[in-house]
Amino acid sequence: MIRFLRDWINDRTGLGRVIDALLLEPIPGGAKWRYVWGSALAIVFGLQLITGVLLMTSYSPGDTTAWSSVYFIQYEMDFGWLIRGLHHFGSQTMVVLMGLHMLQVVIAGAHLKPREVNWWLGLGLLAVVLGLSLTGYLLPWDQKGFYATQVATNIVGGLPGVGPWLQKIIVGGPSYGNHTLTRFFALHVAVLPGLAILLLIAHIWVFRRHGVTHPKNAEGTGWFWPDQAFRDMVVGLVIFGIMLGLVVYGWGNKVEPGLEADGATPTRSIYDRIAHAGRDGLGAHLDAPADPNVPYPARPEWYFLFLFQLLKYFEGDQALIGTVVIPGAVALILFVLPWLGYGRLRPVGHFAAVLFVIALLGGAAYLTVQAWVEDQRPDTLEKQPYAILKQVVAAQRYDADKASAFQKELEHAEVRARRAVQLAAAGTPAIGSRYLLRNDPMTAGKELFRSQCATCHSHEDPLAERHQPKAMNDHPSAPDLTGWGSKEWLHDFLLNADGARYFARTHLKGGKMSKWSAKAREKAANDPKFSEELDLIASWLATHPRHDPPEEKADDLQARGFRAFDRHCSECHSYRAETFDELEAPDLAGYGDARWLREMIMNPQHPTKYGRNNQMPGFRDINSAAASVLEEPFREAFKSALANAGDDAEKKEFVKRTHQVNPLTHLERELIIRFLRRDGRIVHGGDPISD
Ligand code: HEC
Ligand code: HEC
Repeated sequence: MIRFLRDWINDRTGLGRVIDALLLEPIPGGAKWRYVWGSALAIVFGLQLITGVLLMTSYSPGDTTAWSSVYFIQYEMDFGWLIRGLHHFGSQTMVVLMGLHMLQVVIAGAHLKPREVNWWLGLGLLAVVLGLSLTGYLLPWDQKGFYATQVATNIVGGLPGVGPWLQKIIVGGPSYGNHTLTRFFALHVAVLPGLAILLLIAHIWVFRRHGVTHPKNAEGTGWFWPDQAFRDMVVGLVIFGIMLGLVVYGWGNKVEPGLEADGATPTRSIYDRIAHAGRDGLGAHLDAPADPNVPYPARPEWYFLFLFQLLKYFEGDQALIGTVVIPGAVALILFVLPWLGYGRLRPVGHFAAVLFVIALLGGAAYLTVQAWVEDQRPDTLEKQPYAILKQVVAAQRYDADKASAFQKELEHAEVRARRAVQLAAAGTPAIGSRYLLRNDPMTAGKELFRSQCATCHSHEDPLAERHQPKAMNDHPSAPDLTGWGSKEWLHDFLLNADGARYFARTHLKGGKMSKWSAKAREKAANDPKFSEELDLIASWLATHPRHDPPEEKADDLQARGFRAFDRHCSECHSYRAETFDELEAPDLAGYGDARWLREMIMNPQHPTKYGRNNQMPGFRDINSAAASVLEEPFREAFKSALANAGDDAEKKEFVKRTHQVNPLTHLERELIIRFLRRDGRIVHGGDPISD
């Protein structure tokens, strides 16, 4: 049956002759393991084409969509992690194999007459493959690729004469952005692969014309099929195995699984665990979405590091030596290498070529290690085997401060990357993936808190990494707000309001609450019943109650909590918006919820907040068109607080302290509110959406 089918196809198409021509290639001297590199490259290239097309089925090139589509591939698409991982490491494998192939070629003298043309075709392929890596690096549109590629295009722009013009063409206009992405995409999926395929066909065609370069006294003849093909396949499989190992090793960030209603982690089927292994961190890394507003410690992909390092030696006027002269000279020498092999010059030319390529690869390796060492933290370099590396290479150039700063930035970037992945699991804003972090309370909200509030308040950075400081402010003048409004915070506050963490550092030092708290601490230590009551009040207040006081008889937390509050706190604190001026203490209805905080931020001198005792500036949107209308109620609150302040000196002091209002948009405020309330959901707009 099979034979019939084969004969039928062969008879109608003549396919058999083509296959024979492809496979029945004589190899003088027999098949050799060292001939495998070219085929290995072809195999990996084929794999790149396949995985590349699969990636294209889901990738969406565009400023707002690219990152999310790669997120989708990596974390949601069935086996997307595997496809992307193989493509990612496939590109690096190609670069490594190129180096090995080139080395083998010059050692065998296969670049010499009559194979010059094939050498040049090979160089062309090398350039195209490097171009494919460079363009591919940008496509995820993450911070890493975005900034690395910007460095590359800036280098192009620095070339003499054509530079600026060339840069404009590549970048797709005067500035780097969406058009750069679409252009790189076109290059990456159409122009360069097409060119690579044409060059590859020509390369193999010309190679077949002259056959392998075998030793002169080679005996016997082997055949491509099956002798050499077998070796090629074995090596191909080993390489594939290594690539697979790298993918499975896992370089990505995990998605923290959600919790089920009962607090347990949801169970996943075996299929789900394999098909979506990206969620467990397997596959390639994905950095935070590209954002021109957020700087990034840019470095090129590792196989371009040597070039990057080379540029460091030539700064200012000399930059062209690193960008043009040396790379140009290397390219030129590579180009003319075959011509050193004519006539009696051949052995010399051959030897020189081997020497040159080894020096080239060795030099690149050296520069790569040096670049790496210069970026490492001092304590990393103290450990073996890195200590040896440091001695071998960058010892004098090494700058510990610079390296540490770089690592810190990298760590910071990694916090963002991890966070972006968590957020994307809940969906990406339609306005673009970069708004994942721009509108993230734990990222943008935290930074706003740091710049607006942590000038007075202290707070711990919940996402601080090992080498980053946890405290946001070392000399606070306002209460610590880490965990503000939670049961733990309230409990600690009630017993230590006079302490260093709270009011001792403020103008409220020695105030009513401080005094009360000092007494309460003493009492709680001796009176278990009172201590329990405080617990109860903290638990109750942590639910941010706003409702009417519950019925007298009820026995739930709300009722018992309210009764305890009534017994111990209502002497000073109102519940439900009575004014400050009567009691001199903030109203506690809804204390700790978003609305309470919103009011506090916008208008801390409001009668339900700190009134005339306030020292905190208000934060409002005073720059918008509507601001002047909306300011009226705030002015009223200010006037009444002023009227209630004591004598003239006190009034003057009050005006000085709080008349000032800091501009803060609605979006910014909501970001801060969610950050303080440990609510990590993205803020999708500027309005108070929901508490
Ligand atoms: C100029 C210093 C200063 C800045 C800036 C500041 N605060 Fe305050 N904040 C205070 C002081 C002082 C208090 C104590 C009450 C008062 O004086 O009104 C306070 C009280 C608070 C409280 C009440 C909690 C408590 O324990 O009493 C909250 C919540 C708060 N601030 C949040 C913020 C937020 C959010 C920001 C940033 C938008 C901010 N603060 C900016 C000084 C500041
Ligand atoms: C003797 C009066 C008094 C009593 C009793 C009292 N407080 Fe206070 N409390 C104040 C004052 C006044 C302030 C404002 C800070 C200051 O001036 O000391 C305050 C501040 C607070 C704050 C910080 C408010 C903010 O803006 O963040 C909380 C929370 C608080 N009290 C809770 C309680 C609770 C709960 C009780 C009862 C267990 C209680 N207080 C009992 C007077 C009192």
